[in-house]
Amino acid sequence: MSVIRSRLAGVGAYLPQRVVTNDDLAKIVDTSDEWIVERSGIRQRHIAADDELTSDLATRAARAAMENAGVTADDIDLIVVGTTTPDDTFPATAAKVQANLGVPGGFAFDVQAVCSGFLYALATADKFIRAGDVKTALVIGAETFSRLLDWTDRDTCVLFGDGAGAVVLRAAEGEGKNTDTGILSTHLHADGRFRDLLYVNGGPSRGQKVGFVKMEGKEVFRHAVTKLAGVVEEALAANGYTSADLDWIVPHQANRRILSSTSKKVGVGEDRIVVTLDRHANTSAASIPLALCTAVTDGRIKPGQLILLEAMGGGFTWGSALIRL
Ligand code: ACO
Repeated sequence: MSVIRSRLAGVGAYLPQRVVTNDDLAKIVDTSDEWIVERSGIRQRHIAADDELTSDLATRAARAAMENAGVTADDIDLIVVGTTTPDDTFPATAAKVQANLGVPGGFAFDVQAVCSGFLYALATADKFIRAGDVKTALVIGAETFSRLLDWTDRDTCVLFGDGAGAVVLRAAEGEGKNTDTGILSTHLHADGRFRDLLYVNGGPSRGQKVGFVKMEGKEVFRHAVTKLAGVVEEALAANGYTSADLDWIVPHQANRRILSSTSKKVGVGEDRIVVTLDRHANTSAASIPLALCTAVTDGRIKPGQLILLEAMGGGFTWGSALIRL
């Protein structure tokens, strides 16, 4: 049976120039390189310049993905940006990116699912493509997460960074089989009862301030491992695959220990997990496309391979996407 699939036509990424090492942070809060590396695997993060906005990071990543895909602004029908740190309360960052790129038509909007934001954006774009409404979509995860950090709170400020990653999706014909090229499935979940374990204590409706990240780290860790292992198994079962069939997992880059524990639980060796968090820390919605772009560009991920993307974040939200490249 002939079906429409969303194929990954190009990838791109952008990290701000300024690098802040763990030793730099140890000068402003009571922490150490040793503690941060041991507990999280993070060695450094990139922080946006004062005049650099989420839309600027997103635009740079998008341009790189469009060049990689060989598409022009005229080809783009849809732009979806996953972000928790929009430039302004409105308009959507996606609309600013559309203007920056000179995309003459189509439609553009943001989705907010914190660290699962890229997967929510990807799943949404995939649905528009599969419905036949859109031929070419730009899906971006972009964050200036540093703007939500309390730089006196060592529990949180050492874990996050800024960045952006993007992919171009193009409609293509598939056979409706699990051997098709393109996005084979997406699975999204949310459970708002866990709000208090990971949240920002501000927003336009709550006191008109942006607020700071608050987190119960141990609880988040525990939920992350269980929920991420669950979505890996869900995606594999839905497509008639087992963990042995996976070439790569490209996880949300939050914490090396979360990745190791999840890898053990699902039976996928760490040699098949893409890890880039040491270089850019947790960039929330940007982390999956940043890691994906790195592994595609350095040749680890090859055409024809089976890739699983997975993430969990505030909300809680969590989910997966299974893709054959
Ligand atoms: N430097 C030095 N010491 C610190 C720091 C720091 N930056 N932060 C906390 N500590 C101290 C604590 O105060 C505590 O001291 P105490 O024993 O005297 O009370 C000690 O280190 C141990 O703290 P714990 O919170 O028990 O450390 P834990 O091993 O749980 O690691 C961490 C903390 C890294 C936050 C871990 O819980 C974690 O990674 N959780 C997941 C959080 C996460 O990834 N969030 C991202 C968003 S959600 C997502 O993306 C999945």
